[in-house]
Amino acid sequence: MLLHGAVLLLLCVFAQLIHCAEDFYKVLGIDRQASDKQIKSAYRQLSKKYHPDKNPGDDTAQSKFVEVSEAYEALIDPESRKIYDQYGHEGLKQHSQGGRSQHHDPFDLFSRFFGGGGHYQRGTPRGHNIEIKVGISLRDFYNGRETEFQWDKQQICEECDGTGSSDGVVETCHHCKGHGVRIIKHQLAPGMFQQVQTQCDACGGRGKTIKHKCPICRGERVIRKPTTVSLKIDRGAARDSRLVYENEADASPDWIAGDLIVTLTEKEPDMETENPDHVDGTFFRRKGNDLFWREVLSLREAWMGDWTRNITHLDGHVVRLGRKRGEVVQPGHVDTVENEGMPIWSEEGDSVYHKFQFGKLYVEYIVVLPDQMASGMEKDFWSMWQKWRKEIGVDLHKDSGRPDPPEPSSSPEGKDEL
Ligand SMILES: *[C@@H]1O[C@H](CO)[C@@H](O)[C@H](O)[C@H]1NC(C)=O
Ligand SMILES: [Zn+2]
Ligand SMILES: [Zn+2]
Repeated sequence: MLLHGAVLLLLCVFAQLIHCAEDFYKVLGIDRQASDKQIKSAYRQLSKKYHPDKNPGDDTAQSKFVEVSEAYEALIDPESRKIYDQYGHEGLKQHSQGGRSQHHDPFDLFSRFFGGGGHYQRGTPRGHNIEIKVGISLRDFYNGRETEFQWDKQQICEECDGTGSSDGVVETCHHCKGHGVRIIKHQLAPGMFQQVQTQCDACGGRGKTIKHKCPICRGERVIRKPTTVSLKIDRGAARDSRLVYENEADASPDWIAGDLIVTLTEKEPDMETENPDHVDGTFFRRKGNDLFWREVLSLREAWMGDWTRNITHLDGHVVRLGRKRGEVVQPGHVDTVENEGMPIWSEEGDSVYHKFQFGKLYVEYIVVLPDQMASGMEKDFWSMWQKWRKEIGVDLHKDSGRPDPPEPSSSPEGKDEL
């Protein structure tokens, strides 16, 4: 019994040793098949979240920050990822003891993504925020969508890690001794000097010179290139709503990147590319949570009724419109269809705890009259009008809203035209 207990204890200790380091994939919240892009994106998010400057005094956050950085470095390198997948933390440790060291300073790594020397602290210069507009179709506003867009972003050169040097050698400028400025003495009068401080022209005020410039960024330390950003559009997101991507604006070793601010604008529908299924809803117009649509009726339909329309909404479901025989629709009449407008955006989004509510759909009717009638038809209608106009016509004068003339009008019965 005692032996049994000892074995159990030993097993526990062992289990703890194995589990002391958290699984790298778990740390980054990604699965084992994750692409480099997903690894990078996980690092971008988590390193900002746990950065010690943002979580002062929080030891858990600080160790998370280090873990995230270690996990990133282990998984982004194909060789070390392979070793990690096969032999785990222990294998990686042996590998790095044998060869080059794997771990950079976690702040260094952060700096390679966001600049600013890896810090947010006061005194670290901050780059400008950048605002861009992304055109979104009404269909995507209605259904919600995960998509992406591209923009030309200034990034820290990966080739030289933002040093600007092809061999990593950055020397202190010997003209200004690294100060970036030079003092020039002007003689104003014999024995009388004025000292003027100017930017060092040998190093451009940086205090450092590079003999062998990086071929990719030509010594600039940064390059501008198309960058893909993922974009999640919530169902019912407001037109012109803004999404803030923290520290995702232009990067530079000299500052911590500002925010990228994306405004969702509504783009004009394009029948060719946006509407392969010929969805009527593509041409809805949106006002807040409501949608507007114009429907054309013939004279016969408007007056006699007995018609249906099946309008295909933005997600493909059908909205039925119609009138029974004998139901009149006046030109310009507007039907209000409840719950067929936009989904009403909510903070809870698509969760099971939240049932979407919808705005209204307003349908305005346009009535078109036929241009011509066949002569037989014209005769038939004419005699029919003559027969019925006095009996069940409309009083155009009354409906016109004009004031009554002093003389009694020419239609004493009050009925005039059909
Ligand atoms: C609309 O759909 C209904 C039911 O499927 C059908 O009876 C009707 O004929 C359709 N109307 C039109 C104009 O297609
Ligand atoms: Zn200099
Ligand atoms: Zn470079």
